[in-house]
Amino acid sequence: MSLCLVTLLLFINHEDIQMNNANWAMRAQSVLPAGGFGNFDHSVFIKKGSGSRVWDEQDNEYIDYLIGSGPMLLGHGNEEVIDVVQEQISKGMTFFANNTAGIELAEQIVDAVACAEQVRFVTSGGEADMYALRLARAYTNRNKIMKFEGGYHGMSAEAQMSLAPSIQANFPNAVPDSAGIPASVQDDMVIAPYNDKETVKALLDEYGTEIAAIIVEPLQRIIPALPGFLSFLREECTQRGIVLIFDEIVTGFRLAYGGAQEAYGVVPDLCTLGKIIGGGFPLAAIAGKQSIMAHFDASVVGRDKFLMQLGTLSGNPVAAKAGLKTMEILKRPGNYDTLKAHGVRLQKLFTKHLTHHGHPHQVVGEPELFDVLFTSNPVIDYRSANQANQDKSKRFNHTLRTHGILKSPSKVYPCLALTEADFEWTEQAVEKAAAELNK
Ligand SMILES: Cc1ncc(COP(=O)(O)O)c(C=O)c1O
Repeated sequence: MSLCLVTLLLFINHEDIQMNNANWAMRAQSVLPAGGFGNFDHSVFIKKGSGSRVWDEQDNEYIDYLIGSGPMLLGHGNEEVIDVVQEQISKGMTFFANNTAGIELAEQIVDAVACAEQVRFVTSGGEADMYALRLARAYTNRNKIMKFEGGYHGMSAEAQMSLAPSIQANFPNAVPDSAGIPASVQDDMVIAPYNDKETVKALLDEYGTEIAAIIVEPLQRIIPALPGFLSFLREECTQRGIVLIFDEIVTGFRLAYGGAQEAYGVVPDLCTLGKIIGGGFPLAAIAGKQSIMAHFDASVVGRDKFLMQLGTLSGNPVAAKAGLKTMEILKRPGNYDTLKAHGVRLQKLFTKHLTHHGHPHQVVGEPELFDVLFTSNPVIDYRSANQANQDKSKRFNHTLRTHGILKSPSKVYPCLALTEADFEWTEQAVEKAAAELNK
């Protein structure tokens, strides 16, 4: 075949792929509001993943630092996970009735997570958070919830309060981030600044006897708690009879096998888990003290204190098998050291090239989950994070994408499948993106 013909065929093929993508975008636009599933860039269509890499419909290859928004800590297509999933699928996909895989998964969670005496399965992290708040209300017989500005806990009415407010309300006033939420929900929210013990203490002095729960991401988005902040919350909750909930949907089985509560040495009353425990399938959980979890059991607490909770796919056996195998692999010696080392290596290479090209920035977070913020000021809460140069972040992320790095707009999720070749690729991409930011 002549070179011209090959070039022509490649060109036609490339045109086809472009058309195909545009076609999918049009189809998505007509049947999906805003043309997508959620808030990730709707122009990206991922067709497959393997290990640390994913490919889009145009056959572009990326190092995947999005990893499904967190669950794929082992990387895509882990063969051991696929084997158990296939075995389970051939036996049945869902039963609604109890199944042994779900019970074993609950046992593993109880073994791993310090606060977990019992576990209730649901299908998504947001659902787990919603029930955790309701559980705290059932247990304490109080209504108010303390939540931190900028903290993300899914999509319930409470969680949508002051998640990403565009106005700076005075604490503890809640700003709804979604339409369709009754004003009455605002009255039950006490919004506090993350990492600010003094303000939290003052708010607790005022509202403490009405507060059912403090819900907190122990690593808020990517912002670490300042030393002593989580243990301060622990002490205040214990003294005031408030339920302390750690939202460990992201940090669970990531920051350590026992999650943030192991990594930071502070044990909440309840935690929520998701992402990794489903091994890439829809599964999440509320876990915690038996005395609180008892509200899911009418025979223990009585009808009027009973919290009705069920869901068609709760404890789904395929998800439970995938989660169990994922956890078994994670527990093998060295994996958490490797994950940390990968994260540190990535953090260093971002710092090296951004510094070299003269961009004031900070790597914020933990090695296992972080991002780069373009600011030199300390980042300790939602407002200080917001002062970073967002436009520069957008341009940086966009340029990284053009150089084959897929990441969330606000996070880098390292995974265990990263290879030497991935680090080299990433380093080159970061170097180029840092240089191009100056243009
Ligand atoms: C801290 C935190 N909580 C809750 C959720 C909601 O989980 P899901 O998307 O499974 O509903 C997320 C999702 O990213 C999260 O990061």
